Amino acid sequence: MITNVANYSAVDSAPNPNQWVDMMVDLPSLAPELDYIRSTMQGWLARRKPKSVLDAGCGPGVTTKELARSQVSIDKIIGMDASDRMLSYARDHNAMTNIEFQKGNIMELPFEANTFDAVRFERVLHHVERPQKALSEITRVLKPGGYIVGAESDTYQVRVHPLSELQNMAFNNAFNQGFRSEAVGRYLHEYAAKSGLMVLEHMCFSMIFHDLETIDSKFEIRRLIGESLPDNESKTMIAELDKAQEEHNFFFSIPVYIILATKQ
Ligand SMILES: C[S@@+](CC[C@H](N)C(=O)[O-])C[C@H]1O[C@@H](n2cnc3c(N)ncnc32)[C@H](O)[C@@H]1O
Repeated sequence: MITNVANYSAVDSAPNPNQWVDMMVDLPSLAPELDYIRSTMQGWLARRKPKSVLDAGCGPGVTTKELARSQVSIDKIIGMDASDRMLSYARDHNAMTNIEFQKGNIMELPFEANTFDAVRFERVLHHVERPQKALSEITRVLKPGGYIVGAESDTYQVRVHPLSELQNMAFNNAFNQGFRSEAVGRYLHEYAAKSGLMVLEHMCFSMIFHDLETIDSKFEIRRLIGESLPDNESKTMIAELDKAQEEHNFFFSIPVYIILATKQ
């Protein structure tokens, strides 16, 4: 159960680190929209034919391997993450001859300037306090003429349907406690421009989850509603959500912004 997403900022010292690894491995099966998001990003890169790519904050290496398989131009991909546990899973399950998994901090990338033809990142910047600085680091290690592709959510725009606007705001306050930069998705365009990148594509998708029990087991929706609303109101609300689920009227959505930009 995901009790505190803040643990993604320090997976190895979190209680039961494997649950954070499992959550990342399971997520595509819970949110099929990730396939669209990832294949759109891959399509953008494929047209640019990068040879060297960094997957920054690669987690369990699922996206690193997908990239290696889908892009024939790539000679070498480095999957980098701050967590040994994530990297250990990546090496055991997602190894390929042209992938190297290595430890590193996105705030201070362990690479020379102008190293990569492309840098990819996905849902990493909301776990750091200064996402603009991380994007500047990514830009530093990118070769001139190289590309970034990134996906970041805006969990302040999470929608629990059919909560009212006010109830949703109260829920979002509780839900976002664990993130360090919960709204980063909406600033991606601005941060990229401020890092000196030229933005070529900018889109927003929503990941939509329809099963209340699944989402509750991952994100503790009922507990958060209980904590964010007065007692009588939260009980009524939870009962309404249960009813909505029975009537196929429940969903939980998270917007994800994606961007393609180039270093001139
Ligand atoms: C939500 S997961 C996303 C993983 C992967 N990008 C994916 O989409 O499957 C966030 C990842 O960022 C890593 N992370 C958090 N802070 C980091 C930092 N400062 N530098 C590098 N990685 C970091 C975590 O260890 C975790 O693997």
